[in-house]
Amino acid sequence: MYHTDGKENTCTLQGYLIGAGPSEQILDRSVRKIINGIAFASKIISREVGRISLSDLLGEAGGTNVQGETVQKLDIYSEKIICDAIEKTSSVCCMVSEESEDILSFKDVAKKGDYVLLFDPLDGSSNIDVNISTGTIFSIQKRVTPQGTGTIEDCLQPGSSQVAAGYVLYGASTMLILTLGRGVVGFTLDTSIGEFILSHPRITLGEYPGRAYSVNEGNYPHWSESQKCFIRTLKGLEGGEVYCGTSRYVGSLVADFHRTLFKGGIFAYPADSKNPNGKLRLLYEASPVAMICEQAGGKASTGEGSILDVVPTDLHCRTPVYVGSSSLVDLADSFLSS
Ligand code: AHG
Ligand code: MN
Ligand code: MN
Repeated sequence: MYHTDGKENTCTLQGYLIGAGPSEQILDRSVRKIINGIAFASKIISREVGRISLSDLLGEAGGTNVQGETVQKLDIYSEKIICDAIEKTSSVCCMVSEESEDILSFKDVAKKGDYVLLFDPLDGSSNIDVNISTGTIFSIQKRVTPQGTGTIEDCLQPGSSQVAAGYVLYGASTMLILTLGRGVVGFTLDTSIGEFILSHPRITLGEYPGRAYSVNEGNYPHWSESQKCFIRTLKGLEGGEVYCGTSRYVGSLVADFHRTLFKGGIFAYPADSKNPNGKLRLLYEASPVAMICEQAGGKASTGEGSILDVVPTDLHCRTPVYVGSSSLVDLADSFLSS
């Protein structure tokens, strides 16, 4: 809680969602239930992240997921916690999870659901065992089929049609960042009362570009010439100004994007010869991050156009990502758009 004008501010997430809609548009009750479900699940995940080295959830689950990546026990646990919480809402016709190859649905209640939840249950898995921030990313779409259990058609929608998007960052504090299409707000988990409290009523990317660029330069040898030239230009190595004098890279999208959202700059996961469409997944990583970024006054590009305009080809399709201060994303586009 924090004090303003001597009054204790106790605007909880639930309170915000009830009052969020302006008079002519009350937020749909199902959307509120889904967001509250994610928030509840994230409190449990946050607890487990905070004690991971003391629990048997540390380590690999064995096997690889549809992404071809080694699955961590906490990936699977997080997915289960979220599915259990969302089932109770009777608000989704189906779900897409990074950790499951096919569409997920609940036998009996799916038919009533008007929405689709697309989520990355635990982002930044490679950082779980080194105590570096991880997160949960989510995207909510309205179904397009009239009734029944959700279908692939309900899932493969562009980011521009998202109803809501957000992420929970399990960092020094646990924060939930949310957009309902009317700006970006932030909530901080007050563990003493177990509530997400409104701590950032309006998050915007400042008009001046930040000083940091964020990219895994270990991939430099695999980049295209135009991508290499873009990064060298950012650093002033091509004879022009130094656009970004600082580099920051955590290796968790939620952490690298959160810093960019608060301080400006640019985060990029470019295409390379190993990942010709980039590494990050469109439906539950790039699209929600892009909606948040643009709602905060920034830009989100594939290098060839807006991420929010990309029509998904399959549940786990990937896209190059350039998000952050508009002028820096425009600079990236000037190098990358063919
Ligand atoms: P996830 O843990 O959900 O698979 O996501 C990891 C992603 C993203 O969080 C991060 O930006 C990126 O992988 C880091 O990739 P590199 O380790 O290749 O830089
Ligand atoms: Mn991820
Ligand atoms: Mn993940």
